[in-house]
Amino acid sequence: MLKSPFLKRIAIVDDKRNEEAFPFSQLAFLNEKFTLDFSNPVTFFVGENGSGKSTVLEAIAEVCGFHKSGGSHMHQNYHSDDGVESTLSDALSASWLPKVNQGFFFRSESFFNVARYVDTEGYPTFNFYGGKALHSQSHGESFLAVFSNAFVTDERQMFLMDEPETALSPQRQLSFLSLLSEWEKSGNCQLVIATHSPILLAYPNARIIEFTPDGLRDVEYEETEHYKFTKTFLNNPQRYLKELME
Ligand SMILES: Nc1ncnc2c1ncn2[C@@H]1O[C@H](COP(=O)(O)OP(=O)(O)OP(=O)(O)O)[C@@H](O)[C@H]1O
Ligand SMILES: [Mg+2]
Repeated sequence: MLKSPFLKRIAIVDDKRNEEAFPFSQLAFLNEKFTLDFSNPVTFFVGENGSGKSTVLEAIAEVCGFHKSGGSHMHQNYHSDDGVESTLSDALSASWLPKVNQGFFFRSESFFNVARYVDTEGYPTFNFYGGKALHSQSHGESFLAVFSNAFVTDERQMFLMDEPETALSPQRQLSFLSLLSEWEKSGNCQLVIATHSPILLAYPNARIIEFTPDGLRDVEYEETEHYKFTKTFLNNPQRYLKELME
């Protein structure tokens, strides 16, 4: 049986790259040599705000057949088109074994719209999300309702997630890690997750790719800026606060 990862690699098709248009004009690492190999079932994207994580994740989502605004494949048609051209996904080639057509693109920033769609459409999607209106749950509860109900593992799935931690307390982030482990163990799920959370990044066996101004590089958990900074800060918050407020 073929196990995750299914999407093996993405690469730029150079003659489809428009250097003048976003994102090529802005993100120097998207040069003609840009490739990204997926060697593990779980890949994290980390890096500073504005380093390009969402841009690349969104393009991967489109390559996987999701709408760039997020949701499952069932949510392909309800989005209104914002008229923004998807130049990066158009310039990407993808290698699959096998091609996967199921999954979810979870964007915390547009989750409200997906939740409203699920709540108002009712059957059949409603039960699929746990049977309780997502808007009648707290922010974090509704995130977890989607993760635990809609992220199924009985068929091969691509799960792309942009900052899934945003609504989750530190304890609920541990619940998320437990779900992540179930998804990975099934062998049926490939996950690419952009995150700022030093808790999520602790997940073992994940590949962590750091987005830097000089390009993308593999890093160990303890080498990530988020881990190092959070650890130093929590060891002595007063030192930072004093400096900031002087
Ligand atoms: N449609 C656009 N047109 C021009 N520039 C854009 C567009 N979308 C994003 N950018 C710029 O591209 C850069 C990368 O943005 P992106 O959203 O990919 O960053 P990110 O790594 O996901 O950041 P964050 O951690 O804040 O979510 C940013 O400098 C952003 O301002
Ligand atoms: Mg982002």
